[in-house]
Amino acid sequence: MSLLSFIYLLGSVSFILGLKMLSDPAKARKGNLIAAAGMALSIIGTIFLYRDDEGNELHNYGWIFGGIILGGIIGTLAAKKIKMTAMPEMVSLFNGMGGACAMLISIVEFRHLTASFAIDTYSDRGFVFFSTIPGGELLIIMLGMIIGTVSFAGSIIAWGKLNGKIKDFSFRGQHIFNLVVLAVITLLTIYILCCRPEETILFFYTVLVLSVVYGVLFVLPIGGADMPVVISLLNSFTGVAAACGGFLYDNPVMLTGGILVGAAGTLLTILMCKAMNRSLKNVLIGSFGAQAAKVAAGPQGNYKQITIADTAVVMAYASKIIIVPGYGLAVAQAQHACHELEKLLEEKGANVMYAIHPVAGRMPGHMNVLLAEADVSYDKLMEMEQANEVFKNTDVVLVLGANDVVNPAAKKDPASPIYGMPILEVEEAKMVIVNKRSMKPGYAGIENDLFFQPKTSMLFGDAKAVLQQLIAEIKTL
Ligand code: TAP
Repeated sequence: MSLLSFIYLLGSVSFILGLKMLSDPAKARKGNLIAAAGMALSIIGTIFLYRDDEGNELHNYGWIFGGIILGGIIGTLAAKKIKMTAMPEMVSLFNGMGGACAMLISIVEFRHLTASFAIDTYSDRGFVFFSTIPGGELLIIMLGMIIGTVSFAGSIIAWGKLNGKIKDFSFRGQHIFNLVVLAVITLLTIYILCCRPEETILFFYTVLVLSVVYGVLFVLPIGGADMPVVISLLNSFTGVAAACGGFLYDNPVMLTGGILVGAAGTLLTILMCKAMNRSLKNVLIGSFGAQAAKVAAGPQGNYKQITIADTAVVMAYASKIIIVPGYGLAVAQAQHACHELEKLLEEKGANVMYAIHPVAGRMPGHMNVLLAEADVSYDKLMEMEQANEVFKNTDVVLVLGANDVVNPAAKKDPASPIYGMPILEVEEAKMVIVNKRSMKPGYAGIENDLFFQPKTSMLFGDAKAVLQQLIAEIKTL
């Protein structure tokens, strides 16, 4: 085994190990570092140890290191500057860059392939005839190009939608139109693979343009609560496109990395679909969830308010408390104050746990990351199913900046855009205190009946400020 093959083996093992560790919040950070080290080693190994069939080493070092330094600086600055709440946008943008790489690799390799075979056949027969192009290689190039382009275009639209620069858009018959575009892409690809006449190059670029169109139309109509599914799906597309690059270059580490991203993204997509009660079929043909953007007319019914002082009394004397963190906790950066409240209440003899909804916040694992940052113990976190079993034996549920994930309309109102999405059934508890700044809706843009129920009291204010006041008040009791 050559040194480079050994390095690729180490790289592949590091990805598998890293991914395994990511499933445990306590080991996730270390897992990420191990996989990043494996990737760095594989890149360095390729740059310095790769030799082609004729024994030539890589050249163009200026371009390679220029790209690495520029990309490294941009990536580091972006990662340092980005706010936790804007993380999904960054994931989307970076995922799009992965798709763009796969697309560019396919374009370059298609040009190499057709140019070299055209030259051969020109000299042999006097005209351009591509029938000697290896079909397998061409298939991989086409797949990498189509999937990478869809992922690139879709991710850029998702990025624009998440940061509010691009609005939802759909038109009548879009499902059919999307399917027609997919069908044309498939037929042209088959034509390129089977017939390979001299117009192939024109058809190749037609497929490229149609893939951009499909990627854009696929993501544009998707709104509200369904976005995470799409981002996760696009992530799996990028993985598959990168794996195509691995096949093309016979590079095992690129292949393993791509397959792992593709598989992990697909599994996450399925889990997200389940968590949001959306079918994968609807994701694939686009335009589901468009109605989720509808905003309710305004607060309906009466709601009760509670003061900081009363909340302090209720919580100080409760024995079983569950905190439900949501997007607002992340916005307010209130995780440290939240942990402080938890410790204070435990000192007073209460049992405090956290209930985590799989899509609370704006990215998969958002609440876990946030609470880990504040050193909340992992065994205090309950997943949705587990929490739903214990709400009925809970004295107080404190909802901190969460809205959609505790909206009973998901269970009770078939007309609601989030109908069918499993939620944290907080209304089962003896008392619910909801902290948010106003009666405004959450991400899905819909009214929440929980706020108007007799058991619920609203505690208005920024989560961090409210928690700090609450801590001060409880200390005086
Ligand atoms: P949301 O439904 O978005 O509700 C968050 C609530 O926090 C808002 O109603 C807002 O009300 C409140 N808030 C905002 N800033 C606050 C602050 N500084 N202090 C206190 N409260 C504040 O959040 P959720 O319940 O976590 O649900 C997540 C939603 O996002 C779901 O619909 C999910 O599908 C979607 N989503 C999830 C992901 C992933 S993967 N997690 C990705 C994209 C979208 P006020 O304005 O009145 O304060």
